[in-house]
Amino acid sequence: MSLDQWSAVDHYISELLVQEDPALQDALEESRRAGLPPISVSPAQGKLLHLLARVTGCRSILEIGTLGGYSTIWLARALPADGRLVTLEIDPRHAEVARGNLDRAGVADRVEIRVGAAADSLDGLHGEGTGPFDLVFIDADKPGNPGYFGWALRLTRPGSLIVVDNVVRNGTVVDDTSDDPTVLGTRRVLEMMAAEPRVSVTAVQTVGSKGYDGFALALVVPG
Ligand code: SAH
Ligand code: DHB
Ligand code: MG
Repeated sequence: MSLDQWSAVDHYISELLVQEDPALQDALEESRRAGLPPISVSPAQGKLLHLLARVTGCRSILEIGTLGGYSTIWLARALPADGRLVTLEIDPRHAEVARGNLDRAGVADRVEIRVGAAADSLDGLHGEGTGPFDLVFIDADKPGNPGYFGWALRLTRPGSLIVVDNVVRNGTVVDDTSDDPTVLGTRRVLEMMAAEPRVSVTAVQTVGSKGYDGFALALVVPG
């Protein structure tokens, strides 16, 4: 089994089942053209986020890590017309590309991009009394994940879903001797989730065009 085979199957799933529309394809193309790193969720993963938002009846979504807005489009399209998505991005260039992509996808009216370090924006959202959000997608810098999960708990309610991307990273997550800040951040956030009585959690490993990785999923439960 190899990345080539995972990619071929991912391509098959994507063509047969996901069927991205031109706006989603353009978002990736524009992001590539602008020199953004090719680290958006895959089409199949984007559709998974979209379906999770729909099954939970989401009306408000918080995303941490916008990049070119590819996952943002999938999530925003799960919202009703009066739904709202706030997405946090530190890099103004990424935010600018995302703005164009969200416009072309017809979801700009439902999405607010906040430019700045996510920790500051989260503090701001909390201070403004924004929320609770029905779904939080955590997908920015991995060392920040323990902090972002803490904020996600403050900005949600029982019944909300918290999704954390990239929790497996080629299996490096099991290396308890690692001093890689991304591994440390990931292990720490999983340990926080495990110890937190306000969530019921699992993590699933994934393979595909993005290699070998995984998601953690936490349902906020009555404390
Ligand atoms: N969710 C996107 C991918 C996000 S990639 C998708 O799947 O389409 C991670 C993004 O997080 C990058 O754009 C990066 O600039 C941003 N980021 C990194 N550190 C950050 C921080 N401290 N605060 C906010 N955003 C950050
Ligand atoms: C990286 C970040 C991501 O959010 C992702 O999905 C894949 C890779 C990265 O920083 O390398
Ligand atoms: Mg990611």
